[in-house]
Amino acid sequence: MLKGRDLLTLADFSDEEVREILEAARTLKLLYNMGHKVNVLSGKTLALYFELPSTRTRISFEVAIHQLGGYAIYLRQEDLQLVRGESIADTARVLSRYVKAIVARVRNHEILEEMARYAEIPVINALSNLYHPCQALADLLTIYEKKGRFRGLRVAYIGDGNNNVCHSLMLACSKVGIDIRVGCPRGYEPLKEVVKKAEEAASKHGSIVEILHDPYETAKGADVIYTDVFVSMGREEERDKRLRDFAGWTITKDIVRMAKEDYIFMHCLPAHRGEEVASEVIDDPKHSVVWDQAENRLHLQRALLALIVP
Ligand code: CP
Ligand code: NVA
Repeated sequence: MLKGRDLLTLADFSDEEVREILEAARTLKLLYNMGHKVNVLSGKTLALYFELPSTRTRISFEVAIHQLGGYAIYLRQEDLQLVRGESIADTARVLSRYVKAIVARVRNHEILEEMARYAEIPVINALSNLYHPCQALADLLTIYEKKGRFRGLRVAYIGDGNNNVCHSLMLACSKVGIDIRVGCPRGYEPLKEVVKKAEEAASKHGSIVEILHDPYETAKGADVIYTDVFVSMGREEERDKRLRDFAGWTITKDIVRMAKEDYIFMHCLPAHRGEEVASEVIDDPKHSVVWDQAENRLHLQRALLALIVP
């Protein structure tokens, strides 16, 4: 039962629940594309609390809420009494009296956990330093649409293995039986606890979780090549060091040549052409699916809200 649930990390969702969200997203996408409206949020207001900038997540949530007949209030951290010392707990308690759910983007995952502890309504992670579950669910939807299956596929994530997008992608892939291979420089491996959870999930499907340290080796035989920025939000002061450490890790034509002939290229965006990916890879219309991928944030979140918001 998904009604009333928090979504802080996919680790809290069963394989079946992940499937249920994906099926709902496919159905609602079809209905919307046929002109049908589903007004399940009619008369309901949701809060979008953002500590960090966002283009895709904020806009797709606002549009999804509007399309479901609801109303969204965008709350920037600096506009709330939080900046004058009111606690997250008290803020969550008060929001619970006004709105039906909180969608929150935070610098520190612990803030989300505290919010969820004190809120009487669902809290949905719109990105934290550790996880980006809405992105990963939408990515599964895109992979399924492009490849028509999960079983037997291999996703190669190449770049910063220690970030929100990689962590959630690992959990998402392993829950549906996709082989996930992460390639990253030494020192940028995914968190051990995430690797462990992904391995546990993968073992149920007979799929594989691998961490490698060579971009070419990682790309070999992949159906999906995925990357994200080298410098995530909140890590800006490490920029110079990271750009040195990630030298040689830009996804180029030479790297994607190692993948299957019909590989797709994915990136959560925003992209930095010439840093984590060469223009000729991300702008290659034959393989890059990044715009469909961005669109699917809307379709996935519309379904997620329909299922979760009481
Ligand atoms: N992919 C993603 O979450 O993008 P935004 O930071 O623009 O929301
Ligand atoms: N890893 C990136 C994802 C942006 C959507 C960041 O945290 O900045």
